[in-house]
Amino acid sequence: MRISEKAYAKLNLSLDVSAPRNDGYHDMVMVMQSISLCDELDFTLDNSGRVSATSNFRYIPNDERNLAVKAVNKYLDRIGRRDVGCRINIIKNIPSGAGMGGGSSDAAAALRAMNRAFDNCLSGDELLELAAQTGSDVPFCVRGGTQLAKGRGEILTDLPDMPMCSLAICKPSFSISTPELFRKLDNIRIRTHPDTPGMLAAVNAGDLSGMCRRMYNVFEDIDDRRMRTVAEIKSKLLDMGACGAMMTGTGSAVFGVFNESKDAVKAAELLNREYGFGRSAEPTGRTEI
Ligand code: C5P
Repeated sequence: MRISEKAYAKLNLSLDVSAPRNDGYHDMVMVMQSISLCDELDFTLDNSGRVSATSNFRYIPNDERNLAVKAVNKYLDRIGRRDVGCRINIIKNIPSGAGMGGGSSDAAAALRAMNRAFDNCLSGDELLELAAQTGSDVPFCVRGGTQLAKGRGEILTDLPDMPMCSLAICKPSFSISTPELFRKLDNIRIRTHPDTPGMLAAVNAGDLSGMCRRMYNVFEDIDDRRMRTVAEIKSKLLDMGACGAMMTGTGSAVFGVFNESKDAVKAAELLNREYGFGRSAEPTGRTEI
């Protein structure tokens, strides 16, 4: 049996982090948004009992380090079908080390695909539980759309769809390691926190410019060379007409929100030439599971 699934990238429209917890994680408050830029996954089920992945990029791991493999293994364990094997082929369009949830979204797509293959034998809540065990951003990616995420990212609340707009996303050539940036954040005093209540009020009112004014990511406070490049890309996006710009997750990708799609396309083309990765995209709505 063969199943195809799209794995949509995510952006953070705001990101706040609290003090570290005893389990090594941090409590977070994030407004998250899925976007049309996506990986394309194919799942071929067989009776080998083995799960593996291939992809169009050599650096994508083919074993448990690949979150899609991890998710399929968790699903098969959960339903007691270790006799089943699965070959996953991933066409990667979402850059890695970008804060765009590429690996997490592949894992979420894997959980949706497996549940389709096994006649939705797990409920939505059971799928979300497996998602939380796979990675912090995976629960959001299972359904996507616009959601508020708290805790490690597993406490989710649906929000109204983001108002119509276009996005330009740029990833500079360097990637950022998530655990490394969390460690750095623990060593600074965060000066500015996003206005999450204001952001939520703007999302609920469908007020795009109110949202743009409140877009903020605490990781941008870290003072290093990479954040200076992030700030440079942000100011270029704003100069090109974006009504708001911020870094997503732990970076290194930065995005701008535009009213007009032609402006987002133009900005993405320019940033693609300058930094090596620039794409335009649109927000996407939730996938029902
Ligand atoms: O859960 P995930 O594997 O995606 O997390 C990667 C790393 O990011 C964790 O090992 C931890 O260092 C950091 N993290 C955190 N707090 C979160 C999410 C991730 O400290 N809420």
